[in-house]
Amino acid sequence: MQTVDLIDKKRLGQALTREELAFLVGGFTAGRIPDYQMAAFLMAVCCRGMTNEETAALTSEMLHSGEQLDLSAFGDRSADKHSTGGVGDVTTLIVAPLVAAAGGVMAKMSGRGLGFTGGTVDKLAAIPGYRLTLSPADFLRQAGQVGCAVVAQSGELAPADKAIYALRDVTATVESIPLIAASIMSKKLAAGARNLVLDVKVGAGAFMKTEAEARQLAHTMQAIGRAFGRRVRVVLTEMNGPLGAAAGNALEVAEALAVLKGGGAPALRQVSLALAAELIGMALALPPEQAAAKAEALLQSGAALEAFERWVAAQGGDPAIVQNEALLPAAPYRREVTLPQSGYFAGANALAVGRAACLLGAGRLTKDQPVSPGAGVRLLVQPGEPCRAGQPVACLFTDRAALLPEAERLLAGAFTVTSAPPPPRQPVLAVLREDDLA
Ligand code: URA
Repeated sequence: MQTVDLIDKKRLGQALTREELAFLVGGFTAGRIPDYQMAAFLMAVCCRGMTNEETAALTSEMLHSGEQLDLSAFGDRSADKHSTGGVGDVTTLIVAPLVAAAGGVMAKMSGRGLGFTGGTVDKLAAIPGYRLTLSPADFLRQAGQVGCAVVAQSGELAPADKAIYALRDVTATVESIPLIAASIMSKKLAAGARNLVLDVKVGAGAFMKTEAEARQLAHTMQAIGRAFGRRVRVVLTEMNGPLGAAAGNALEVAEALAVLKGGGAPALRQVSLALAAELIGMALALPPEQAAAKAEALLQSGAALEAFERWVAAQGGDPAIVQNEALLPAAPYRREVTLPQSGYFAGANALAVGRAACLLGAGRLTKDQPVSPGAGVRLLVQPGEPCRAGQPVACLFTDRAALLPEAERLLAGAFTVTSAPPPPRQPVLAVLREDDLA
């Protein structure tokens, strides 16, 4: 078999066999196939697509490129979630303790931020003392005892995805439904949970710009999950504006705590509850309305906040942050940005806020750059609120004062003010359950 013939076959729009995909994935991961040939193949996939059978075979080859976690000790209760990437999206820190408080087991590996989107691992790293790596035995023990363990993605799981993703990132081949589906599902299948909820973002600040594309991605991933005997539900959520009021690691941890205490940004609360309800429903075999009521009750009663405290303490983090947010890292330089006109605040542009937060130090502009835990952007006005010209709309936080003017420039035009009150934000667009596949 020759790599060049397989690239040609895909360029002509033909479907590759399982053996041919195994040859490509195995050869690339082992270093036998060079970057330029894999990049040409990936571009051909972007332009020509893949059949469902090819996407499932690609996923399977990527899944089997590394180790797989065995969560069978938790039976049907193991749960995991994945978001396709957003701004101000700190849902894992709310969903994980909700699932634990309900009696499920959230044993999860999370990634770091990518581009302008935030990553759960960077947020957890902002909690003083929190251990991002645990031995497999400690990971399973903590998940069993506390109902929740979240660590950094292990390089041992789906290493083919790691290698292919790095190449896609620099060859404009990220935005392809079969490639995204195989990437996400190979990692999630390797991580072993029986129940998976996928938060597929739609909008200006998401990979999927339209709901139709997002539904296609959702169905592709659900079909893969079903082929591998997992339960997969998808919540389609709107990502035109940041989900919460904060973009930046410690700022988002503080906001997750606000939601767990009954406050916080309404959209973040709503999406977190929707994701948690689907996992609780699957893990505890509850119908959707009962699962939603349970999630809501666990948030209201403070049981989820207590589960958060137990989880953070078990993983070496300082649980005192729950009562005293001043213990979280803070950036020394701050600047307020003001609104140019009066009216009603209709929202912020997620892409602009994400880029500004990243530039201020919350994310990475190069692969190995360290992030600043206290840096980011906090919105000071909620969508729908009346506002006046000159009113502060956001506060910028950074360790390097010289970055503030450029961040302000990125945010120019990012805030929309309307003369009439905007319609209330509806961040949950749709929930796709197993039955929707039939
Ligand atoms: N997230 C992933 O893990 N993979 C992709 O390809 C896109 C988003």
